[in-house]
Amino acid sequence: MNIQDLRRRDARYLWHPYTEITAFERADFPIVDRAEGCTLFEMDGRELLDGISSWWCANLGHGQPRIVEAIRQQAGRLQHTLLGGMSHPGAIALAERLAEISPGDLGHAMFGADGSLAVEAALKAALQYRTNRGERGRTRFIALEDGYHGDTLGAVGAGYVETFHAPFVDAVRPSLRAPSPWCNRCPFGKRPESCGIDCFDPMARLIREHGSACTAVIVEPLCQAAGGMRIYPEEYLRRLRLACDEAGLLLIADEIATGFGRTGTMFACERAGIVPDIMTVGKGLTGGTLPMSATLVTDAVYDTFRSEGGRARTFFHGTTFCGNPITSAAAIAALDVYRDEAIVARLPARISQLEEGMRRLAESLGDSQLRTLGMIAAVEIGESAGGPERARRLVRRAFELGLFIRPLGATVYLWPPLTATGDELGRMLDILLRAAGETV
Ligand SMILES: Cc1ncc(COP(=O)(O)O)c(C=O)c1O
Repeated sequence: MNIQDLRRRDARYLWHPYTEITAFERADFPIVDRAEGCTLFEMDGRELLDGISSWWCANLGHGQPRIVEAIRQQAGRLQHTLLGGMSHPGAIALAERLAEISPGDLGHAMFGADGSLAVEAALKAALQYRTNRGERGRTRFIALEDGYHGDTLGAVGAGYVETFHAPFVDAVRPSLRAPSPWCNRCPFGKRPESCGIDCFDPMARLIREHGSACTAVIVEPLCQAAGGMRIYPEEYLRRLRLACDEAGLLLIADEIATGFGRTGTMFACERAGIVPDIMTVGKGLTGGTLPMSATLVTDAVYDTFRSEGGRARTFFHGTTFCGNPITSAAAIAALDVYRDEAIVARLPARISQLEEGMRRLAESLGDSQLRTLGMIAAVEIGESAGGPERARRLVRRAFELGLFIRPLGATVYLWPPLTATGDELGRMLDILLRAAGETV
């Protein structure tokens, strides 16, 4: 197969997400044919390290043999059946496993395909929770500025990142938003040593003043990823949990990006020691192999959906392929790998290596800020070091040198597979450092 011919047909027929068409058509963009571990193999055999785990999902690397085999086995047995009024062993086993590993009593799983659908289910469940309980007028959501919860319209209203969502702003019902609590840009000028979590005050005020009109608060726990890898303190989440309890608000933790080990614990909520009422997971659930997500709710939330006294409380929500047997099998195999290979317990050495390498990158760039959390490390390039333009050039040069990453404005980040070896991570960091040096 001729690569240029494929690129021509791609430009003719495909529509790429989050990709500017004209620049893309002109570029020699990679066409990946197979992948293994941290390495993507392009059609011409060129190797490319996957520095962002294929949009933050390939936590277990590519081609994980146990997941591949589970998919193969299940595909030969039962490909699909609905979950409306019917069940299958894979969905049952997966829901049970998720209840076991998730924090607290998040005991029931509604499955979806992509993360956005898990968020839609979470928002709708939080709304119907109120009608189930006969509560009126609690129809708004509270969220963080520049939160990202997906690209369906409900999720766009809950979150909102100007760069992505401006064309849709008039079509969505916006949540009430508190300022981002990120430490690197502390609006109170505090340092971690002197921090009193003053950044929680605006959120506390919002909850006090508008909580009675709201059903839930939705946040990305500890890291606002798509909003620019904004990392914030665990104490913020603990205070949020308390404030939600006091105001009778549900807390929705969107763990689609942070779940399954990314922050150094299985779920980011565990780091803060909190239990949300609703938690969304996706991406790493299947080790990034097949589209699957889940909305986990506590028994207390779930029980409000039982019909009672002649009042139907059915949750009229669900998509055709939710809880599909093949994706369920992939997820169960992935959970087996997380458990059997102690993926999370083995992270500390890689986390230190990542932190150290990205610190060197930040130093070499000059005016820049480093942010890290578990296996997430981001460097925001300041204006005097070239800002977003430098980030674009650096990412382009890294690509030429064999590393695939995507910038978020002026922020360059690594989000490698959790299974990256010291050598693989070292090569990613070396390429970044070299690219920084060559794009002055
Ligand atoms: C926190 C968060 N929520 C929701 C989503 C949406 O997930 P998906 O792209 O699978 O629809 C994302 C995607 O990046 C995310 O980071």
